[in-house]
Amino acid sequence: MLASSIIVKKRDGGELADDEIHFMVDGFCSGNVADYQMSALTMAICLRGMTARETTTLTQAMLGSGDRLPKTADQDSDSGNNRRVRVDKHSTGGLGDKVSLILAPLLATCGVDVPMVSGRGLGLTGGTLDKLESIEGFQVEYSAEKTTELLKDVGACIITASDRIAPADRRLYALRDVTGTVESVPLITASILSKKLAASLDALVMDVKVGSGAFMKSEADAMELAKSIVSVGNAAGMPTTAILSDMDQPLGEAVGNAIEVNESIEVLQGKPGEIRELTIALCADVLVNCGQYDSQEIATKKLIEMLDSGQAMERFEKLVSRQSGKLSGPLPLAPATEITASTGGFVNRVDCQSIGEAIVSWGGGRRKAGDAIDHQVGIRVHHRIGDPVESGQTLLTIHSHPADAKDYATRLGDAIEVTEQAPPKRSLILSRLP
Ligand code: URA
Repeated sequence: MLASSIIVKKRDGGELADDEIHFMVDGFCSGNVADYQMSALTMAICLRGMTARETTTLTQAMLGSGDRLPKTADQDSDSGNNRRVRVDKHSTGGLGDKVSLILAPLLATCGVDVPMVSGRGLGLTGGTLDKLESIEGFQVEYSAEKTTELLKDVGACIITASDRIAPADRRLYALRDVTGTVESVPLITASILSKKLAASLDALVMDVKVGSGAFMKSEADAMELAKSIVSVGNAAGMPTTAILSDMDQPLGEAVGNAIEVNESIEVLQGKPGEIRELTIALCADVLVNCGQYDSQEIATKKLIEMLDSGQAMERFEKLVSRQSGKLSGPLPLAPATEITASTGGFVNRVDCQSIGEAIVSWGGGRRKAGDAIDHQVGIRVHHRIGDPVESGQTLLTIHSHPADAKDYATRLGDAIEVTEQAPPKRSLILSRLP
């Protein structure tokens, strides 16, 4: 088999056979297929696409490049050899998306394990690991053995992917990042699912974000990605569902790192609103899909009980302390300045791009991989689209360092558009799959 012939076949719109896909991925990992050949193939896939069968094979080949996390025995079962049910959620990422911090401990209180392998922020959307590292001492690197211990003790962990989790994806993603080949539904599907399959999950729920603060700006693109992930996840033996959720404005009020941990704690302590609503919906979906509960209604009732009784918060504290974090009250933030409304009316638009860019430029996010993060930088967005505001009311609270003050008005003066007419109400949850 020749790599160049396989590239030509895909370039000309052909459908690759399973052994051709394995040849390319295995060769890429062993050094028999050069980086430039793999880059050419990914560009051909970007332009020509892949069938569901090809995408499933690509996912399996990338999964096969590394190890799978062993299943954990259920200590409570009579026979001692029943496995504990294992689930996870994956989000395509969006401004202020802090759901993972609440969802992992909340699911654990419902008796399932959640080995959550998370990422760091790059670009405008923050990463769960960066947020958690706002907590003094919090550790994210664990071996497979230690991960199993965390799961046994807490039922959940939030960690970084080890070198042995789908290494083909790690290398391929680095190539795609610099060759204009990130935006491809089959490549994104294989990238996400190879890592999730490596965790040996019994069910996965995807949160596919749609809007100006997300990777997928249109509902049609988000739906295409969701359908691909749901179909390949199920074909690969991992029951998968998806929720499409609105990201035309940040999720919740807080955007940043420490500020998002603080808001997550508020939600774990009972704060109502869209973060709680979306977290419960995602948890209920995956708990029914893995067979833990018979219906969404039963699952939702249990989840509300776990939040309102404080058990989810206790589990979060256990997770933090087991991962060496020291948490005693709200995390400190940089000094606050407010931007107020110059006229009254209704919030018509929230400029996610400007908010994300301002945080990155003040050190709250990375301009390039490896940059250090100032965890205390953040922004509180006080209103959601459609909310009434009065002249002089606070629109944004900015937590930044005084040297950045000259930038506030230019960067964020128009970030919240206020109009006389109220815009139409929009739903948080746009659709569910399947
Ligand atoms: N997230 C991933 O893990 N992979 C992609 O390709 C895109 C987003």
